[in-house]
Amino acid sequence: MKVINSELRPIEAIRYTCMYVGNQPVTCYVIRGKNGDMLIDTGFCFTYDELMKWLKHYDIKHIFLTHAHVDHDLNAARLKKELGADIILNQRDLSLIRHYSRQPVKATKSKYFFRNIQQNVCGPLFRTNPYTPDILLTSENRNLLHELGYDADVVFLPGHTLGSTGIISCGVLYCGDAFTAFWGKPEITPHATSIKLMKRSLETILKLSPEWISPGHGLPVRMESAIPVINGYLADRI
Ligand SMILES: [Fe+2]
Repeated sequence: MKVINSELRPIEAIRYTCMYVGNQPVTCYVIRGKNGDMLIDTGFCFTYDELMKWLKHYDIKHIFLTHAHVDHDLNAARLKKELGADIILNQRDLSLIRHYSRQPVKATKSKYFFRNIQQNVCGPLFRTNPYTPDILLTSENRNLLHELGYDADVVFLPGHTLGSTGIISCGVLYCGDAFTAFWGKPEITPHATSIKLMKRSLETILKLSPEWISPGHGLPVRMESAIPVINGYLADRI
């Protein structure tokens, strides 16, 4: 399996591993904390061994899921057991666990029309092993990452799924699938449960203006390279 990670190709201080399932990049991150480390997303089919190898560098206490799509939470149950870590997920994605069709997706651009049909047909064929989040994120506990010892803030980025959530820490926005670099450059994510909400979340990203965007697929990209892509999409579609 092709793997690019922060040890092989450092990008600022971002701790990442980008694992290629065929030609599909799946990226996980680690944020260091005072009491241990937090893994962001858990990979997909065939990535478990590579991820575990990489995680030997860390002391994972929390597993933060940016959303409950199978290419992000597939290994959650196994990693929780293996690492003894607590899983954090937005409450709005709770019912999505193992049930892709509970939040069907729409194409965010006309060119993704057929890809989107395929996504809605194939999505339900993959099933994550059952898991129960230990911490459900809501607007009430959005400061919890500080309480858990991380210099990091929760950023709600609904749209791709209703519970899509990112983390901003040290100038880096870990955004899950709210934005992507799937094809090796900054790009609008092809699918969204709510395009209207996704657009608002893109505006949130513009306002936050991090230095880097670390997406769930592909390598981290500089915000300055994402801005024209986001602005172009918002200008076209509003
Ligand atoms: Fe997703």
